[in-house]
Amino acid sequence: EKGTYPHFMLKEIDEQPLVMRKIIQAYQNADGDLEIDSDIKQAMSAADRIYIVACGTSYHAGLVGKQLIEKLAAIPVEVHLASEFGYNMPLLSEKPLFIFISQSGETADSRAVLVKVKEMGHRALTITNVPGSTLSRESDYTMLLHAGPEIAVASTKAYTAQIAVLAILASVTGAAKGITADLDLVKELGIAANAMETLCDAKEEFEQIAAEYLPAAINCFFIGRSIDHFVGLEGALKLKEISYIQAEGFAGGELKHGTIALIEEQTPVIALATQAGVNGSIRANVKEVAARGASTCIISMQGLETEGDRFVLPAVHELLTPLVSVIPLQLIAYYAALHRGCDVDKPRNLAKSVTVE
Ligand code: M6R
Repeated sequence: EKGTYPHFMLKEIDEQPLVMRKIIQAYQNADGDLEIDSDIKQAMSAADRIYIVACGTSYHAGLVGKQLIEKLAAIPVEVHLASEFGYNMPLLSEKPLFIFISQSGETADSRAVLVKVKEMGHRALTITNVPGSTLSRESDYTMLLHAGPEIAVASTKAYTAQIAVLAILASVTGAAKGITADLDLVKELGIAANAMETLCDAKEEFEQIAAEYLPAAINCFFIGRSIDHFVGLEGALKLKEISYIQAEGFAGGELKHGTIALIEEQTPVIALATQAGVNGSIRANVKEVAARGASTCIISMQGLETEGDRFVLPAVHELLTPLVSVIPLQLIAYYAALHRGCDVDKPRNLAKSVTVE
């Protein structure tokens, strides 16, 4: 039930800090350490390459998951769109492990790939919100998101839950492989949960950004580098699917190779700056588009901010920034759709779970 909320999407955005805390609890052992099923740990440690397969928002979580697994568990990862995988089957490694990410666990495109890889005799782990779902039943292993039912068509809390579970998977695998990371994940996920709460309490700020940048917009760009680029893809998908504004998530450095031609007077460009290593270069990209007339909005992270940034996110661990940086983008999409009178929870042409290929 929506309770006092006008829409499920807003309720689900607000539930994200609580979901983080539930996930930490669900994956903690009696000593308070993060733990996963020993079979999953073994399958991860034995894999020479991981193939993540997913669609839509879950695919975007997979792009972040690749960074987490490669950095924390030192296993190479490829991320594939399920709907493309069938005809563009990559050359598989000797000991592949497949990870299917699916909120519903029912997405037909992903299931088709699962059926194929099981026929080939490979192992598969499904990360899903729905116990007993088709993908969960047909995989060798399952990790649950513990996000509670997600009703709005636009996925929000499942995305952040997927990233948290992928972080746990990566970190526990890394520890099992004897890799020492300077990351206390229980602590850092707790910090992220608190930061998410602060953002959920700052809704008016994001309503204001939506009101300022998007009422007359025909398009909108989300730019970022590194992990911020992946969150930009998710921000663009959110905005497209519920407000029907043409939006594009783009790697900051790639703009000059063509897309910058689309920048006109007043084109909204929302930039994320949460990564120290690329803080200077993403800001240079913002200057490039601003010089061509774009209305720029920088959302940065505490410690990396510069005067004029539109919003400064509370600081979290560099690998976990998507957990917080996505919330302003979810809320901006929500308010943009609301202001345009769109049906936020049930956007046109879309179904919550896509059970056809
Ligand atoms: O249930 P799944 O995670 O497999 O669904 C995948 C996509 O259909 C889904 O994420 C879709 O992109 C959302 N509507 C995005 O908000």
